[in-house]
Amino acid sequence: MLECRACQRKTLNLFLSLGQMPLVNRFIEPEALSCDEKRYPLDVAFCHNCGMVQLADVVPPTEMFSDYLYFTGASEPMRQHFLSMVTEILESVGASEGDLVVDVGSNDGTLLSQYPGWVRRLGIEPSSNLAQEAERHGITTMCDFLNVAAANRAVELHGNATIVTATNVFAHVDDIRGFLDAAQVLLGGSGALVIEVPYLLDMLTNVEFDTIYHEHLSYFAVRPLLGVFESQGFEVTSVKRIPVHGGSLRIYVRPSRNPQHSPIAKEFVSAELEAGLGTNAPYRRFATNVAAIRSRLCELVISLKDSGEAVAAYGAPAKGNTLLNYCGITADMIDYVTDTTPAKQGRYTPGTRIPVVHPSALVERTPDYALLLAWNYKDSILKKETEYRKNGGKFIVPIPYPTIV
Ligand code: TMP
Repeated sequence: MLECRACQRKTLNLFLSLGQMPLVNRFIEPEALSCDEKRYPLDVAFCHNCGMVQLADVVPPTEMFSDYLYFTGASEPMRQHFLSMVTEILESVGASEGDLVVDVGSNDGTLLSQYPGWVRRLGIEPSSNLAQEAERHGITTMCDFLNVAAANRAVELHGNATIVTATNVFAHVDDIRGFLDAAQVLLGGSGALVIEVPYLLDMLTNVEFDTIYHEHLSYFAVRPLLGVFESQGFEVTSVKRIPVHGGSLRIYVRPSRNPQHSPIAKEFVSAELEAGLGTNAPYRRFATNVAAIRSRLCELVISLKDSGEAVAAYGAPAKGNTLLNYCGITADMIDYVTDTTPAKQGRYTPGTRIPVVHPSALVERTPDYALLLAWNYKDSILKKETEYRKNGGKFIVPIPYPTIV
């Protein structure tokens, strides 16, 4: 019987199985096309004690993060997002000249590069290709997973941090208490830890099932987190919903010997209980809606292909690979997928083996339809791709239910 990552009770109920899935960031090189990929079960459970939603299986992190093809800087909207985040943090937490700011899971350094030059910046990033990319852009980066030992090394070399950020990385962590202990070491008793994670309530409401993949071990709501923060000596000072990645939480916490969470945290908990997150109902509904997306999307793409239409896909995010694999949409249905990440171009999507090409293919080849896998950037993409749309190209938006725009 599995133990809940948050409350450590054996009170997990499985509510969704997405089948045996390949690792969604393992884009295949042409030479490896004839080899079979490793697949792992992708099953999701809900803890009926504390409400934490989590994967039932943990793939070793070194298998997922050693050579990582997600580059934050490949998505222009993320730069904007991090710029406004950094501005907000500096206004609300404050920092003095020469203070250290640390970003955990710092990727290619896009977030840290938004800070002004008068702070000292340190990235902690386990993927060596990304750490090197960040260093090339002048961002000092330790190539490591964050744990207490790595935090001690960072403090020895650079001193304590005033601000620690962890965006889209906390959900990757199996030992969330150990991660918070390491953040305590980095902060050394003061300052702030700012975490961004996709919000469970948005995932359920908008049927964002493609957010589920092996890297995302947890699907956070505020309620199960409060006890975890408390036990590791943190109090919540602020929580807000932000639109990034289909709806996320931005949570500010600070070290405290006697944690007293801000009233806003309690308001979130009430709203989550009111939305039924402590009961089985929304998870059952979610599983039904996920199956409905699969039926409709398959039916739509197959009928378009049968009528001789050319169908491509737009964006090759990790989540797109959950969607394609779960729906069984493969290279005989989708001709190619465009993506702005140079390292993905020339490779093939994991499991479904669709070639990834440069974004210029959209206008050069003008497919009749483009399945918008990067649907979280829908507004900015629809605005950017006016020429494709003027030429008659249409987008299929798969989430929350397949529609054509
Ligand atoms: P993300 O949703 O996890 O940030 O990943 C987005 C992926 O989509 C990433 O591989 C970059 C790609 N992308 C495009 O190809 N075109 C775009 O306009 C944007 C915003 C992203």
